[in-house]
Amino acid sequence: MTSYITRKTPGDTAWFTHDRFGMFIHFGLYALPARHEWIKNMEEIPEDKYDLYFKHFDPDLFDPKEWARQAKAAGMKYAVLTTKHHEGFCLFDSKYTDYKSTNTPCGRDLVREYVDAFREAGLRVGFYYSLIDWHHPDFTIDLHHPRRDDPDAFEQNQGRDMKRYAQYMRDQLTELLTNYGKIDILWLDFSYSDLNGTGDRAWMKGKGKDDWESEKLIATVRSLQPDIIIDNRSEIDQDIWTPEQYQPMQWVTHPETGELVTWEACQTFSGSWGYFRDEQTWKSPEMLIRMLVNTVSIGGNLLMNVGPTARGYLDYRAEEALQVYADWMKYNSRSIYGCTMAEPEFTAPADCRYTQSADGSRLYLHLFAYPFAHLRLPGLAGKVEYAQFLHDASEVLFTEGTVDHFSAKNEKGAEDDLILYLPPVKPHTLVPVIELFLK
Ligand code: GLC
Repeated sequence: MTSYITRKTPGDTAWFTHDRFGMFIHFGLYALPARHEWIKNMEEIPEDKYDLYFKHFDPDLFDPKEWARQAKAAGMKYAVLTTKHHEGFCLFDSKYTDYKSTNTPCGRDLVREYVDAFREAGLRVGFYYSLIDWHHPDFTIDLHHPRRDDPDAFEQNQGRDMKRYAQYMRDQLTELLTNYGKIDILWLDFSYSDLNGTGDRAWMKGKGKDDWESEKLIATVRSLQPDIIIDNRSEIDQDIWTPEQYQPMQWVTHPETGELVTWEACQTFSGSWGYFRDEQTWKSPEMLIRMLVNTVSIGGNLLMNVGPTARGYLDYRAEEALQVYADWMKYNSRSIYGCTMAEPEFTAPADCRYTQSADGSRLYLHLFAYPFAHLRLPGLAGKVEYAQFLHDASEVLFTEGTVDHFSAKNEKGAEDDLILYLPPVKPHTLVPVIELFLK
């Protein structure tokens, strides 16, 4: 077994750290403007203009079975769907609001169809639920709010009551965690208690655990689904840490105790979570695979995001990106599922990443660059019984000690190394993986 001890989690994270790879899905009214899910904030869109998106929300091609099929093919084992994003629009038939998909031309409970489709495909289901709500009449105006620059913002803010809003969130989360079966993940987003206005906007306060009443919120959630995995964005540590849009360079640790924590990096394929028609910064196929491998090589999970179009389907760019994962995971998923960071004694060569099976028996060497002929693995002499390319199980020959092609016979430390002999032509896979069976 690998030796890493991680911080205890209230929820059941055993399946999570085995499965490693999930699909984030950002879907809502913001798919209609199609220029970022924060568009209401960015353009300070007036309510009557934003209501046009409510009036015209009709994802007639919405087919979550197709989403689930593509997620499964890509090797994703779980999904997290935005049940409500910062805009406040609910994709489920909540009795606590009229601002919901069942009241639009769509007329459907999209959350219901999502959970049914993904469960049928064998994936675990999670809910993203925004703590922020720019539509709710009790959500106070702050520096993120689209009404922040309205001349009468202060007057608009009068009478708003965050205690009523916190109760609204508990009521909706009760609906979500009661009416849709077993939910595996609750992804709350996000706190900003240090973002406070100054001068004539000093009354615009940031929001954190006291505003969300996070203690009561978490207690409500746990009373309904005790094993559920909850993130840390309500300002109360729960099960997972959630580095976003960057690649940690080491296993994420608890900020106070220094313990290794259970963590999940969330990333977009492009530069936006919601569908963004004109956004062009789509990650290369190589980058997609390397991000997944790099994440698991330091003990984390990866949640890759798709933003469906307002017709309800995944656009061709998202489909192509998912196919990149499908093509690679088809033959290489054994180096991801049930794997974690390699033991400290194993140091990967330059441009490579190790993962190791949780039972410790197999080491996976991922070649981010393809070297000529030989690859030296420090410290592995005497420790490897057999080596093969993972994608086709073809043997990879190796010797131990120095390379015997007129090399110096006394290279320092070489006696502890294992030398792999690689074919001159890189195998037909984006990131070749060599499976090392340890003695
Ligand atoms: C940030 C963004 C939000 C997105 C989330 C995903 O909080 O503000 O739009 O849903 O990241 O992690």
